[in-house]
Amino acid sequence: MKFFIDTANIDEIREANALGVLAGVTTNPSLVAKEGVSFHDRLKEITTEVTEGSVSAEVISEDAEGMLKEAEELAAIAPNITIKVPMTLEGLKAVKKLSDQNIKTNVTLIFSANQALLAARAGATYVSPFLGRLDDIGQNGMTLVAQVREIFDIHGIDTEIIAASVRHPMHVTDAALNGAHIATVPLKVLQGLVKHPLTDQGIEKFLADWNQQK
Ligand code: E4P
Repeated sequence: MKFFIDTANIDEIREANALGVLAGVTTNPSLVAKEGVSFHDRLKEITTEVTEGSVSAEVISEDAEGMLKEAEELAAIAPNITIKVPMTLEGLKAVKKLSDQNIKTNVTLIFSANQALLAARAGATYVSPFLGRLDDIGQNGMTLVAQVREIFDIHGIDTEIIAASVRHPMHVTDAALNGAHIATVPLKVLQGLVKHPLTDQGIEKFLADWNQQK
């Protein structure tokens, strides 16, 4: 399983990239709104200065025609822009057209296996099941990842599964075990994966012993 970072904050993206594990970036309109910068300028910055990996940029139109117009502008920013499209009937139409033009797509707001299957059949490069938001309403987000992976494997579908709405380290471990190809995680979660109390204690002891030497 690869790691994407789920943020539009350039410092966070740089920090994650410096760890050497970053394969891509996902953004969404809420994350972009927090930044108070031009979306296009930020995408340019990310794609030219930080990563050659997939950078998901979400369209906000609700009709396929509007989505395609936005997609054209976004895709022109850099070759590694992936167009993030919401899971709707109009979204599927847009995904089909973009896929025919060899433009990469990430179908977002996936909450059922059927949605993931439809998105894949429309030609999506990625599907993003939202784990945390399912857990929030008392459904098991990880079961969805496992189901989608099983269905894709049974039917030989090569659309990649991005575990999204990841809230804590157990989501990451379970997403990897259940066959997600990618987990998109906030910087805090990524940094949290490094921490273990025994690692901290071990370092403390090694340093104490080192400093005792005669
Ligand atoms: C994924 O692409 C989304 O941007 C994201 O993971 C949503 O996470 P949230 O449910 O924490 O907002």
